[in-house]
Amino acid sequence: MTDRYAVIGNPIAQSKSPILHTAFARQFGHDIHYGTLLATHETFADTVRRFVAEGGKGMNVTAPFKLDALEFADTLSERARSAQAINTLKFEPDGVHGDNTDGVGLVGDIQDRLGVALEGRRLLVIGAGGAARGILLPLLQAGPDYLLLVNRTEHKAHDLLGERRRAGKVEAGPLAAVAGGRFDVVINATSASLTGAHLPLADSVFAPGSLAYDLVYGDGDTAFMTDARALGAARVSDGLGMLVGQAAESYRLWRGSRPDVEPVMAMLR
Ligand code: ATR
Repeated sequence: MTDRYAVIGNPIAQSKSPILHTAFARQFGHDIHYGTLLATHETFADTVRRFVAEGGKGMNVTAPFKLDALEFADTLSERARSAQAINTLKFEPDGVHGDNTDGVGLVGDIQDRLGVALEGRRLLVIGAGGAARGILLPLLQAGPDYLLLVNRTEHKAHDLLGERRRAGKVEAGPLAAVAGGRFDVVINATSASLTGAHLPLADSVFAPGSLAYDLVYGDGDTAFMTDARALGAARVSDGLGMLVGQAAESYRLWRGSRPDVEPVMAMLR
């Protein structure tokens, strides 16, 4: 029998998730159907319930429903609780399990695909919105020597780190706190690239051999990627690999098989 999955969002027509999951299923010869669901905050819960009633096995959740899904889930993974946002629901006989695979997707992309180890390295995360929230715990679990989280609106960076702050190890500050620091991995978790806005990056920020990673992806380099190259980042990447990585982790969660992301990356490019 065909197992049903879907991604819910608004808008949703642009989502690459159906292509990704259909490609994963082909790798294993799994018989699945992966669709899209459009909802509003008012219809979110009913739409999900109807999908479950019709035999749905799992769902990806994208903007603007990552908080609605948090409310909806009966149980949460540690990383979903830490992120306070959900991108994956698994429908089980005893309830709805919520998870967040965004951070694992990012860490896997940096370490496995790009071959950049995070352990013992100096990390800079710029931005303290929804995108940053999902990646913080998995980044810290990768064992960096130091992590600095900066945000235009400083208090949001402090709020996000909360009890994870440790002097000299994990710190928060305003964008200006970057000055004088050198980082091995610089992650842009702001939405600035979506509007083509440039971040004020100090020219010393990229350590020799460093990686600049933009969570955003699109056609060609983002503003952040262009700036990072000019300022001496050895490597730059957009967030397409994270997108594929989070989808692969959702797939593994639902079906127990870990898809190969490389051929799917190649297909998307
Ligand atoms: P997302 O879910 O994409 O993270 P969000 O929750 O609205 O979206 O957060 C947007 C993030 O990008 C915030 O950290 C925001 O900074 P503020 O908290 O100060 O608003 C950051 N951001 C957006 N445009 C920016 C810009 N031009 N320069 C610096 N930071 C920017």
